[in-house]
Amino acid sequence: MKTQVAIIGAGPSGLLLGQLLHLQGIDTVILEARTPEYVLSRVRAGVLEPGTVELLREARASSRMDREGHVHEGFTFSFAGRSERIDLKSLSGGKTVMVYGQTEVTKDLMEARAAAGGISIYEAADVALHDIFSDKPRVTFVNAGQTVELECAYIAGCDGFHGISRKSVPPEAIRIFERAYPFSWLGVLSQTPPVADELIYTNHERGFALCSMRSSVLSRYYVQCPFEDKPDQWPDERFWNELRTRLPDEAANRLVTGPSIEKIIAPLRSFVAEPMKFGRLFLVGDAAHIVPPTGAKGLNLAASDVYTLYHILRRTVLDGRTDLVDKYSEICLRRIWKAERFSWWMTSVLHKFSDDPFNQRLQLAELEYYTGSLAGRTTIAENYVGLPFEPIE
Ligand code: APR
Ligand code: PHB
Repeated sequence: MKTQVAIIGAGPSGLLLGQLLHLQGIDTVILEARTPEYVLSRVRAGVLEPGTVELLREARASSRMDREGHVHEGFTFSFAGRSERIDLKSLSGGKTVMVYGQTEVTKDLMEARAAAGGISIYEAADVALHDIFSDKPRVTFVNAGQTVELECAYIAGCDGFHGISRKSVPPEAIRIFERAYPFSWLGVLSQTPPVADELIYTNHERGFALCSMRSSVLSRYYVQCPFEDKPDQWPDERFWNELRTRLPDEAANRLVTGPSIEKIIAPLRSFVAEPMKFGRLFLVGDAAHIVPPTGAKGLNLAASDVYTLYHILRRTVLDGRTDLVDKYSEICLRRIWKAERFSWWMTSVLHKFSDDPFNQRLQLAELEYYTGSLAGRTTIAENYVGLPFEPIE
C-alpha cells in the first residue's frame, strides 16, 4: 500500500486532518485500532472554540453542528455564594463558543470522510512505525489476519495519549512535562433539562462542580471527587445531592434530577511532550498533550495542531515548500503551553486541593480579582474562546 500521509488514529485529530488533506487532493490513509462503534462510545467534552468550528466547516463536516449545536455567548463562575457571568461575546470582540458533543463531531467527521471516499482502516492491529527519520517512512499493521505495509511520505501520530506514535520515538529524543492532580471528575449524563442556559463552573468548599449540556433535554454534570473513587460508589441519589449542595441557590432550586444514562470517573492531568516532530513523524492532539478538562481545551487544542499541520503539509506537498515542516513543533507548542496555562489556572482556582484555609482564601481572591476587573474578565474570555491560530506563511 502507498499513500502520501499515513494517519494513526481515527479520533477527532486523525479524522479532521484526514478530511482537510483529502479535500486538497492529498492522499491519506487512516489506521484505527478499534471499531467505529468503540471510537464513538467514548464520552468526551463538548465546547468548541470558533477556530474549531471554522475548521469543521472547511472540512465540510459542520452541517449538523450548525443545525443542532448551541451557540453560547457566556458562562458563569459561582463562588462564595456569588455568581459572576463572563460575557464572552462582548469581552472577546464578538466571539462565542459552540456547545456540541465531541462524539457528534467524531460521527460527523466519520460520515464526511466516507462521503469523500477517504480510506479508513478500522481494527488495524499491531500498528508499528518504521524509518521515521528517513525520507521513506513506513507503517505496518495487521488487518483481517494479514500483515500490511503502508509506504508514505509523512506520518501523523493522531493516536492519543495511549497510542503507539509517541512511544515510537527514541526516549532520548523527547522531553515530557506533566502534572497530576489529586482528584478526579465524576461525570453524569442525564435525560433532564439543563439547570441553566449557559455553563456554570463552581468553586465550593466541598469541591468543584460544572453544569453543562448536550441539548435542551440532555444535561451533562460533573463533580470533583476523590482520585481513587469508582462510579459504583456514586449512586444517582448521592450524586444529585452532592451536585445540588455545590450549586448556587437559584440553580440548586431549578435542578431537575433523573436517572443517569452515563456515569464516568476520570483523573485530571496536564501533559506536554516536546518536541512534536521526529523526522517524518508529527505528533498531533492527545498524542502530544493533555489538559485537565476544566478549560474545555482538549478537542480545541487537537484542532489547532491539525490546523497547523494541515497548512504545513498542504504547502509542502502541493507547493514544494521545504522550510515549513521544521516549524510545526514550535508553532504548536506556543499555543499549547498557553492553553495548558489557562487549563491549569481554571483547575487551580475552582477545585478543592486541601483543607488549607490560606489556599482557599487565595482561590477566592483570584476569582474575586479576575471577575471583578475588566482586564481580568477579558483575559478569561480571550482564553476561553481560544487564542488565535498562528498563520502559516
Ligand atoms: N493504532 C491505531 N489507532 C490507535 C492506536 C494504535 N496503536 N492507539 C490509539 N489509537 C486510536 C484510539 O483508538 C483513538 O480512536 O487513536 C485514536 C485517538 O483519539 P483520541 O484519544 O480522541 O485523541 P485525539 O484524536 O487527539 O482527540 C483529542 O479526544 O481524548 C479526547 O480530551 C481529548 O478532546 C480531546 C480529543
Ligand atoms: C462538557 O460539556 O462535557 C464540558 C464543558 C466544559 C468543560 C468540560 C466539559 O470545561
